[in-house]
Amino acid sequence: MGADRVIAVANLKGGVGKTTTVLNLAGFAAAAGQRVLVVDTDPQGSLTQILLPESGLAGKTLTDAFRERAQTLDGVRQPSALQGVDLVPASLGLDAVLQGAAAWTGREYVLLEMLTPHLERSEYDLVLIDCRPAIDLSVTNALTAARWMLVPAECSFMALDGYEYVQTLARQIQQRVNPRLALLGILPTRYRSGTSHGQAALEEIERQVADVQPPLRFKPVRLAVAAADAPAYKVSLAQFAPSSGVGQDYRAATESALAFLDGGAR
Ligand SMILES: Nc1ncnc2c1ncn2[C@@H]1O[C@H](COP(=O)(O)OP(=O)(O)OP(=O)(O)O)[C@@H](O)[C@H]1O
Ligand SMILES: [Mg+2]
Repeated sequence: MGADRVIAVANLKGGVGKTTTVLNLAGFAAAAGQRVLVVDTDPQGSLTQILLPESGLAGKTLTDAFRERAQTLDGVRQPSALQGVDLVPASLGLDAVLQGAAAWTGREYVLLEMLTPHLERSEYDLVLIDCRPAIDLSVTNALTAARWMLVPAECSFMALDGYEYVQTLARQIQQRVNPRLALLGILPTRYRSGTSHGQAALEEIERQVADVQPPLRFKPVRLAVAAADAPAYKVSLAQFAPSSGVGQDYRAATESALAFLDGGAR
């Protein structure tokens, strides 16, 4: 257990379904009885807005934890709106704190250091880290804390545009900071079945996957309005529309990720 079950969901391209993927993997994993922690490292805080309960912030945010270089996530993580899912909330101030971090030694390791005590205590079965669409210290911290990188790629023209950059960044982090980081798989998102450009994008992703051979080959997640509607109710598709097509797609993605992790990911 522990560090092997930390997945960063990253792509330098915006709007490809990173946050939606974190929300729904968390929702389906929790529905299957897993203890889940989600960490929002995107100062925009989309995931935080979705998962923060109506009662609001219970304590501090990731910004405070970085500013204080906290040793654990105690005082930061809190129950989310989803049962079985704890949340580390993000806030806009993170950028200002990260700008001041240029002179910090070990600045890539701040999140890893905070997460490690919780992993050592086996408090979670799955940790999902949502990343912003950028190359910056927040993403570096996410990829340094993670064992696996999951890349959602939108099934449209130039589907793998952002993937190339994130893969290059991951390779650098792997070489210099976190040798255990590896690509878990590319998750094709917003798939319009029966359209030629959707099919072309899938084939492009398949080609890339064949070159890289990550351990998982995810089936595509369909484009469906339920995926965009669920967040308004502070739930994932596991609660909102589990038997919809897109719900089944995210259930399948979650099951294959968990089966792989349970199978003794090394
Ligand atoms: N399968 C889907 N079907 C329909 N809408 C979707 C699907 N996946 C994501 N969306 C919608 O697409 C938009 C972008 O998704 P999301 O916010 O998850 O992307 P992101 O990669 O996290 O974006 P950012 O780079 O800004 O963080 C959102 O409005 C979301 O509700
Ligand atoms: Mg996002």
